[in-house]
Amino acid sequence: MIFVLGATGKVGRHLVPALLDAGTGVRALTRDPAKARIDPRAEVVRGDLDTSDLPALLAGADRVFVLTQGHNTDREAAVAQAAAQAGVSHLVKLSTTGVHFGQKDAITRAHAEAERAIREAGPAWTILRPGAFMDNRFAWIGSIREEDTVYVTETDPPSALIHVRDIAAVATLVLTTSGHEGATYELTGGEALTTAQQVAALADAIGRPLKYVEETESAAKDRLIRTYGWPPKAVDGLFALKRESAPHERVVFDTVERLLGRPPHTFAAWARENASAYHHQE
Ligand SMILES: NC(=O)c1ccc[n+]([C@@H]2O[C@H](COP(=O)([O-])OP(=O)(O)OC[C@H]3O[C@@H](n4cnc5c(N)ncnc54)[C@H](OP(=O)(O)O)[C@@H]3O)[C@@H](O)[C@H]2O)c1
Repeated sequence: MIFVLGATGKVGRHLVPALLDAGTGVRALTRDPAKARIDPRAEVVRGDLDTSDLPALLAGADRVFVLTQGHNTDREAAVAQAAAQAGVSHLVKLSTTGVHFGQKDAITRAHAEAERAIREAGPAWTILRPGAFMDNRFAWIGSIREEDTVYVTETDPPSALIHVRDIAAVATLVLTTSGHEGATYELTGGEALTTAQQVAALADAIGRPLKYVEETESAAKDRLIRTYGWPPKAVDGLFALKRESAPHERVVFDTVERLLGRPPHTFAAWARENASAYHHQE
């Protein structure tokens, strides 16, 4: 049985059905089973990584998909140690390409430390390091629905965005077949697109023109704080990461195609799949 942390998140909600389709048993973790919409074939367990009895949650698990929100190294180290004690054979951690590029922002540093904890815990390990997710473009929903406009920070670089379903497909391969123990995989989409190209692809998929507006970093920060209610500290953390990742976001790795034997999903396909999310609200 494979224990999936973050089962309700962006990667996890694709990973759970993909593992079940591959024929494995899945235990899916959530803090709120009543709210969570998890594939009914999975065993759903309630738990909080900060307060629950980790050995009890992990009992009987063969492999664990390790994804934690909040970039908390201690949490992942605790999971790794409890997994080792529970006799788990393989840990697969979701990290970030930032570690490959040696980025110095706090989020990337926390992932680097958590990778070390996973490698040192005892069970076999595999590290998945995706770059920026296509799903990050859901942040444009509000202004597209309200005013057919996308505001982008003028310094945002071209990015080889990855579809979360490709990350889930690689995780499924790694969790259900042998030969990936001790491997670290950088994962991106197949092409780097500028923000203008991303907006054009989205406009095409939605079927109406979108206005593309570049704004300064301070205007972009203000928008997140004032319009979207982000805590200023989280905004600073995001921009620290953006500054560090900007020179590397255009780098394309061929790992998805090498591992899966097919090209990664394109941003245009992602946009078509998710177009209805951007439609005007009645
Ligand atoms: N977005 C990107 O471009 C990008 C790129 C590279 C790497 N990453 C990495 O991807 C990871 C996930 O990112 P995300 O922030 O978008 O989150 P997410 O995976 O979409 O959602 C967070 C998940 O964590 C679970 N969770 C949160 N707190 C928990 C707790 N205390 N105990 C148990 N489960 C808990 C939530 O489950 P419930 O709410 O159901 O309990 C949910 O399933 C992060 O490590 C991030 O650094 C992101």
